[in-house]
Amino acid sequence: MNATMSLEKTKHYPVMLNQVLSIISPQHGGTFIDCTFGGGGYSRAILEFPETKILAIDRDELTHKFANSLTKKFPKRFNFFQEKFSNLNKIVEENLNPRAIIFDLGLSSFQLSDKERSFSFESKNFLNMEMGINKYSAYDVINTLDKEDLATIIKVLGEEKDGKKIANKIDKYRLKKPIKTSKELASIVSNAKKNNRNYKRNPATKTFQAIRIFVNQELTELVLGLIEAAKLLSNGGVLIVVSFHSLEDRIVKSFFNLCSSLKKNPSRYLPIKEYKPGLFRSISRKPLVADVKEIKQNIRSRSAKLRYAIRNNNTFLYPNDFKNKFVSYFKLEGGRI
Ligand SMILES: C[S@@+](CC[C@H](N)C(=O)[O-])C[C@H]1O[C@@H](n2cnc3c(N)ncnc32)[C@H](O)[C@@H]1O
Repeated sequence: MNATMSLEKTKHYPVMLNQVLSIISPQHGGTFIDCTFGGGGYSRAILEFPETKILAIDRDELTHKFANSLTKKFPKRFNFFQEKFSNLNKIVEENLNPRAIIFDLGLSSFQLSDKERSFSFESKNFLNMEMGINKYSAYDVINTLDKEDLATIIKVLGEEKDGKKIANKIDKYRLKKPIKTSKELASIVSNAKKNNRNYKRNPATKTFQAIRIFVNQELTELVLGLIEAAKLLSNGGVLIVVSFHSLEDRIVKSFFNLCSSLKKNPSRYLPIKEYKPGLFRSISRKPLVADVKEIKQNIRSRSAKLRYAIRNNNTFLYPNDFKNKFVSYFKLEGGRI
């Protein structure tokens, strides 16, 4: 089956769409930035409101197909760029004044079901795992990265305690022949974890998450994307992020806390060293989650967490405070190959 055929068969549900629409109120019109266009679920729903404009971004070449249909339908109100969202500043004019910037992180259902990307455990295609605009593939990472680095990546980015054991097995296998497919990789990992299984999910789940994050430098992208988005928003502008695993959610929560007045001083016993005004006047304290009805319809929404924050009129941003907090991810994902 080729990629296009599998794309057409895939049913696509934009996650937590109702909550996103109620936060951004598109009925009042305005410009919105959709940083993760995917199948265009959010963009299409927003464009149904006549006074709206969308600037959409996705790193995946395949999303052009969905973007083209919106460009035809809304030629004056829709613009698409194939780019990584860490490069928002290269695409968007500083004075665009968007009413909201939206991130819906991770993989789309189209990417997940596209056998040629090899995100699934069963894929016998080339071990790819690229979302688009990548420096290397999962094949390069699995077959060329040194054993210790591979173990750290699996442990940290997959939150997999058996990282070392798995990296050892991978290393043993690849000394004989290269690991070419996801199916091969999943079976090696499963073997490494045969005495320590969680039968509720595939034993390779965490390893696949780690390799995918590394190949696409997803955490670095998120840290940089949030900083660029906060710079672009002006007073009243909303930043919305839907995330799907704890590493992402931790980054988003920390960004909102650090940039808001919520956690100015870590302890009341510590003197305030330097006063840094917050960037957001209101943030969602607890993440919003999908309701039972949505989870029944789309199982992927089960792990979604939506956080949002509303920008105030401060103009000064301290990106290095935030970057420093996650410097270990930058180092880990930084091109070592
Ligand atoms: C979960 S899907 C978005 C689905 C979309 N909200 C919809 O309703 O159709 C995530 C999309 O974000 C894209 N993406 C992930 N990381 C990105 C990045 N750093 N820059 C640009 N696009 C990215 C992926 O290629 C994928 O198409």
